[in-house]
Amino acid sequence: TTASSSPPRVDVAVIGGSGLYSLFAPGTATSHTVATPYGPTSSEVTVGELGGKRVAFLTRHGAGHSVPPHRIDFRANVWALASLGAKAIVSSSAVGGVSPEYPPGTMVVTDQFIDRTWGRPDTFYDVEGSVQHLVAADPFDPTLRAAAVEALRAQGEPFAETGTCVVIQGPRFSTRAESLWFRAAGAHTINMTMYPEVPLTLELGMGAVNISFVTDSDAGISPEEGPDDDAVSHQLVMDRLAAAQPRIVAAIESIVAALPADYEPRELIPADAVAAVLA
Ligand code: ADE
Repeated sequence: TTASSSPPRVDVAVIGGSGLYSLFAPGTATSHTVATPYGPTSSEVTVGELGGKRVAFLTRHGAGHSVPPHRIDFRANVWALASLGAKAIVSSSAVGGVSPEYPPGTMVVTDQFIDRTWGRPDTFYDVEGSVQHLVAADPFDPTLRAAAVEALRAQGEPFAETGTCVVIQGPRFSTRAESLWFRAAGAHTINMTMYPEVPLTLELGMGAVNISFVTDSDAGISPEEGPDDDAVSHQLVMDRLAAAQPRIVAAIESIVAALPADYEPRELIPADAVAAVLA
């Protein structure tokens, strides 16, 4: 890994969730500090070859998991990846399963989210004179999702083709009542970072696709039913992610490989064009 101040152009970007801090074979990637109007990204951006594509990788919580969810500068991270020319962001997430149909160990090609965060800067269009209402009915790109589903199927990976993720503010986990409420509201999985990363990705004209790994059963089954070995704790999440790392990396690699080479987002807005509008 070498350091350089002028990062190369890439086809696609990957944002690694908890437990995913590197993506490329040792010695095959270059490492870059990418400046943004919002300040530093969570980590340096590494650029390398994956699944036959030029890929930029950034780890969401920083090297050594030093940035907690509510302090991540999502705008800096997404801007940096857009500025390298990425047409899509493949994000990986650790999630809890609030629905019993999404038990620990399941991979999910998320198709919907419910935002329960607050106070996070969640738009690039926060200046007077540039009104922008993002259409978010289907926030994950259907073409990219279809490619991901095909790739996981070909790999023989057990996974759910769809899933609704409720995004909580954190850093605390949910109460039992909250967890049951999210389930009743239609959520299948839960995490702390899918929002506002996904709408920010769309605002810069990139396509979004997510692969989630269910690490736990959130607040767990009711205490009357006995102890739940799958109930969430930070340590449990990190241990299960570490154990699943090869599966997660293999899934990301096959998804990146499966993304159509001629993929164009519905509306490609270059980061510098957005900068010009907001200047
Ligand atoms: N990330 C992984 N598991 C989680 C849970 N149960 N709640 C919130 N974020 C999580």
